[in-house]
Amino acid sequence: MATAPELLGSGQEAVRAMRDADVPDVVAIERASYQFPWSEGIFRDCLRVGYTCRVAALGRQVAGYGVMSVGAGEAHILNLCVGESFRCRGLGARLLKLLVERAAAAGMGEAFLEVRPSNTAAIRLYLAHGFEQVGMRRGYYQAVGGREDAAVLRLGLRALRTRTS
Ligand SMILES: CC(C)(COP(=O)(O)OP(=O)(O)OC[C@H]1O[C@@H](n2cnc3c(N)ncnc32)[C@H](O)[C@@H]1OP(=O)(O)O)[C@@H](O)C(=O)NCCC(=O)NCCS
Repeated sequence: MATAPELLGSGQEAVRAMRDADVPDVVAIERASYQFPWSEGIFRDCLRVGYTCRVAALGRQVAGYGVMSVGAGEAHILNLCVGESFRCRGLGARLLKLLVERAAAAGMGEAFLEVRPSNTAAIRLYLAHGFEQVGMRRGYYQAVGGREDAAVLRLGLRALRTRTS
């Protein structure tokens, strides 16, 4: 039987709504990926309040996830993460594209996210999808021995809406 990473590219990967039952798998990826991970309760709250929560699944295996809030004309991508053994195979890009398309379809004019300036992989992904840095939040993130700034990135969605409508 194929292992989950072998299912990549086999047509058995799908991006679908996150369910309560996915949260333990999501939290395991989260803990392995970040020094200061979200708690299980944060993911459950995101589901409860109706944020856009998606998982990239390979068969029954959760490989990555994205969480976004939408409202007042703006989408905020709050988390985007792919399990280490599934990275660099296009899943992060697929999740991001889906979130952006969903925000545009919901009528949002722009999408924002924060990223650590040291996170070159994520920054390359966002820039490749048209995001541009519009600011810096000083001391936004927890970091070992202090705080780390966050780069604020923005993507205009109106042009995307025109293109996709
Ligand atoms: C950032 C992250 C989501 C990317 O997911 P992924 O599935 O590996 O990304 P993809 O395979 O879709 O790559 C898409 C693009 O991202 C960039 N990228 C991804 N990994 C990269 C790396 N290790 N180094 C440099 N660029 C990278 C590239 O531009 C890549 O496009 P290319 O393959 O045409 O060069 C993943 O590295 C991750 O989960 N990191 C830990 C959590 C995190 O930091 N999330 C972002 C918080 S703001």
